Amino acid sequence: MAERAEISFVKPDMPVTGSVVVLVAEDMKLGAAGKRLDEALGGRLMRAAKASRFDGKTLKTLHLLAPEGSKLDRITLIGIGNPEKLTAQDWLKLGGTIGGSAAGNGDMRVLLERPDDGAISPADATSLGLGVMLRTYSFDKYKTRKKNDDSPKPRKVSIGLPDYRGAQKAWSSGRAIADGVDFARDLVNEPANTLGPVEFADRLKALTSLGVAIEILDEKAMRKQKMGALLGVGQGSPRPPRIVVMRWKGGRDKDKPVALIGKGVVFDSGGISIKPAAGMEDMKGDMGGAAAVVGAMHALAARKAKANVVGIVGLVENMVDGNAQRPGDVVTSMSGQTIEVINTDAEGRLVLADLMTYIQKTDQPVAMVGLATLTGAIIVALGNHHAGLFSNNDDLSAALTTAGLESGEKVWRMPLGPEYDKLIDSKIADMKNTGGRYGGSITAAQFLQRFVEKDTPWAHLDVAGTAMGSPATETNQSWGSGYGVRLLDRFVADQYEK
Ligand code: BES
Ligand code: MN
Ligand code: ZN
Repeated sequence: MAERAEISFVKPDMPVTGSVVVLVAEDMKLGAAGKRLDEALGGRLMRAAKASRFDGKTLKTLHLLAPEGSKLDRITLIGIGNPEKLTAQDWLKLGGTIGGSAAGNGDMRVLLERPDDGAISPADATSLGLGVMLRTYSFDKYKTRKKNDDSPKPRKVSIGLPDYRGAQKAWSSGRAIADGVDFARDLVNEPANTLGPVEFADRLKALTSLGVAIEILDEKAMRKQKMGALLGVGQGSPRPPRIVVMRWKGGRDKDKPVALIGKGVVFDSGGISIKPAAGMEDMKGDMGGAAAVVGAMHALAARKAKANVVGIVGLVENMVDGNAQRPGDVVTSMSGQTIEVINTDAEGRLVLADLMTYIQKTDQPVAMVGLATLTGAIIVALGNHHAGLFSNNDDLSAALTTAGLESGEKVWRMPLGPEYDKLIDSKIADMKNTGGRYGGSITAAQFLQRFVEKDTPWAHLDVAGTAMGSPATETNQSWGSGYGVRLLDRFVADQYEK
């Protein structure tokens, strides 16, 4: 696992050493512990704040050096605006700001209190702790120099609050989610030379220790299942593909699972329809959908979610050698439907198609949610702040939209329809794998919809703009964002754990 801070919830007594974070409301009010600290320092805290025109507005930050003679090192004031209005998202972002505000390595104490004396619930404290952890993640395993000094992070963050026992209990789920997100980020950030399909599959074996049952399909097993679409994508790489199925049974025995499906193209060169050189290195992240599914399975199992969930990822490398598939090739998918491969760079849908057929056959899921870095077109449409949502079911769409707003990992619904579906009809096969320049994300989704059986509620999230390379936020400074883990965790909690 990459570097990050450790969190603990402690009794709200005064810190004695190290650095301390004090929360200030927009009316410049302090909580009880903050007041005591200010008094102990002879009122210097508030005087310094006023002199610096610090106003307590949301997430404004002021670093102060503790006066001589104090055992404290640094004092950081962070504004929280109106404490009555703080949402779960605000607590998360506040945690992120705390995580990012460390001026040096070492321990940090947070005086977690509301200046209006309102209660801080264990859930709020968990959101804050999660924010701290997510912010302090960094991927430095390949940095042999300057390990810690280029971006200082708190090593140990102890958060003091009245209901620290409640927070300690609730934190096990916060920690599970942080671990899931960081698992996903580690996978997305890892270069493709060290993370081929086999290495990816090997990493997932770690989930067995959490009680997840793992099934791995190798090339031979895929051939037996007649997964011609997925196999066609992998045939230009010397590294053989893998499918990993992860089953978590936290719900009732008789309940069918919800299925999470992830595109795991460990590197996408485009194949014979090769991509331009500029930016091609980013295609090591073309497994961001699979990483999110794995991270979510990790989070769900680690917090012992009371639901049945099956995750499936298709791990394959899209390369170009003498055996690579050609534009114009026709492949037969596991569903029996034939596909004319117009463009070998539209490979993700070929992978997902066989995953969908397989999981419907083996697990009869009550619903399917797929995540894939599927199209550049979704980045043109939505930028980096929403994933594209495509679905055949309004309830499922609403549930994912809500989970997106709750988690801060937002989705935006896009249209589907027969006019778009027509665009992928092929002259010589049942369908072709591209639908022309316009509406590229929609025709990709139409392609996937052709592999939904019996009107199973299905949703596809195009995460090309959100899984990697998105702008830094309060809670993410990493190239691989881990997008989707918290969304899926929230979605399962809301819909299947009631
Ligand atoms: N993995 C790419 C999509 C992508 C692009 C993800 C940029 C992240 C950033 C996908 O396999 C792809 O190449 N899609 C093509 C489809 C086209 C050939 C129909 C695209 O978007 O150009
Ligand atoms: Mn591609
Ligand atoms: Zn791709």
